[in-house]
Amino acid sequence: MIVLGCETSCDETGLAVYATARGLLADVLHSQVDLHALYGGVVPELASRDHVRRLVPLARQVLAGAGIDAGELGGVAYTAGPGLAGALMSGALAARALAWALDVPALGVHHMEGHLLSPMLEPEAPPFPFVCLLVSGGHTQLVRVDGIGRYRLLGQSIDDAAGEAFDKTAKMLGLPYPGGAALSRLAAGGDAAAVPMPRPMLDRSGLDMSFSGLKTAAITRFRAFDAHGEERERFIADLAAGFEAAIVEVLAEKCRRALDQEGVGTLVVAGGVSANARLRAALESVAAGSAPSGGGRLYCPRLAFCTDNGAMIALAGALRLEAGMRTGLDVTIRPRWPLAELAPLD
Ligand code: KG4
Ligand code: ZN
Repeated sequence: MIVLGCETSCDETGLAVYATARGLLADVLHSQVDLHALYGGVVPELASRDHVRRLVPLARQVLAGAGIDAGELGGVAYTAGPGLAGALMSGALAARALAWALDVPALGVHHMEGHLLSPMLEPEAPPFPFVCLLVSGGHTQLVRVDGIGRYRLLGQSIDDAAGEAFDKTAKMLGLPYPGGAALSRLAAGGDAAAVPMPRPMLDRSGLDMSFSGLKTAAITRFRAFDAHGEERERFIADLAAGFEAAIVEVLAEKCRRALDQEGVGTLVVAGGVSANARLRAALESVAAGSAPSGGGRLYCPRLAFCTDNGAMIALAGALRLEAGMRTGLDVTIRPRWPLAELAPLD
C-alpha cells in the first residue's frame, strides 16, 4: 500500500510518501522557524495559517518526487494529536478531504508513535522488545515497546520536557527560537565542570524526570554573573555546557535504569532532542553496557527525522492502514492523547 503522510502538529509542515513494499519514496518539509523566530516561540494562529498555505503545493511536490499520481495512493495518514489544535485541524482537514476525493481510507496518527517508529525508516529496524526514550519539545517519556501499538509508559518528565528546558534556557542566553541545537553548539566550546548544575531526580528511585529546576538553576547562575566581554562569553559557553551535561546525564541514567528494570538490551531514542550528539554518544554507551546477554544496541532515526517530519507519519499510518485501521469521515483531533491508549496492531 502506498500512503501519503501529513504532519502539521506544530511548526513544521511535513509530507511524505511511504510504500509498505518499498519503503520511503519521498519526503518534503517546510519549517516555519523564520515565521515564529520574531516572537521567540510558536504563535499558534500563524502556524495554522501557514500550514493551510503550504499543504497543497507540498502535496503536489512530494507526489512528483515519489514519481506517482495521486490516484496510486492507497490511503492518507495525518497527525491527529498531540499538538496545537488549529495546526492539527489544518492538516487533518486537508488530508481527510484528499482521501475522500480519492475514495481511499484515511487515518489519524499519534505524533509520538510517529517519533517512536521513526528508526524503522532506517535500513536496520530495532527488534522488539525495546525501551524507547521519546525526547522532544513537548514530551520526555520512557516507554517499553513490545510491538506496534504495544506501549507501556515507564516514566516521564513531571514538568518541562527536555526540549522545552533546552529552548527556555537558550532563549535566556539570547539564542533564537528553537534554541536546542544552538545551545548545544555553544556548549561545544565550554567547560561543563566550570558551572556545575544539579542532576534532578537521580537520587530518587523510579523513572520519572524533572527539568524545570535545571532551567531555573541555569537562569539563577546567569543572573548572578556580572562580567562583560570575553569573560562573559566564556561563562555563557560554560553554562551551556554544564546545562547540557546535566540533561544528558539524567536522561542516560534513567535509560540505564529502564533497560535494567525491563531486562532489555535494545534502546531507541527519537524526537527532536535525539539529534543531540552528546546525548546519542551517552546513550550508545548505556545501551552497549546494558544487554542482559551482552552487546546491547542503540537505534536512532537519521538526523533529518529526529525533529518533526512527514516520513514518520507516513510510516506509522501505512502500517496501521495496511492492517485495516481507518478513521471515519468525521475529522477528530486529539490535542492531548496518551500513547498507551493506542490499539495494538496484532
Ligand atoms: O520533535 P520535535 O521536532 O518537536 C516536538 O514534537 O516537540 O522537537 C523539537 C525540540 C526543540 O525543543 C528543539 O530545541 C530540540 O528538539 N532540539 C534539540 C536539538 N535539535 C533539536 N535539542 C538539543 N540538541 C539538539 N541538537
Ligand atoms: Zn515531534
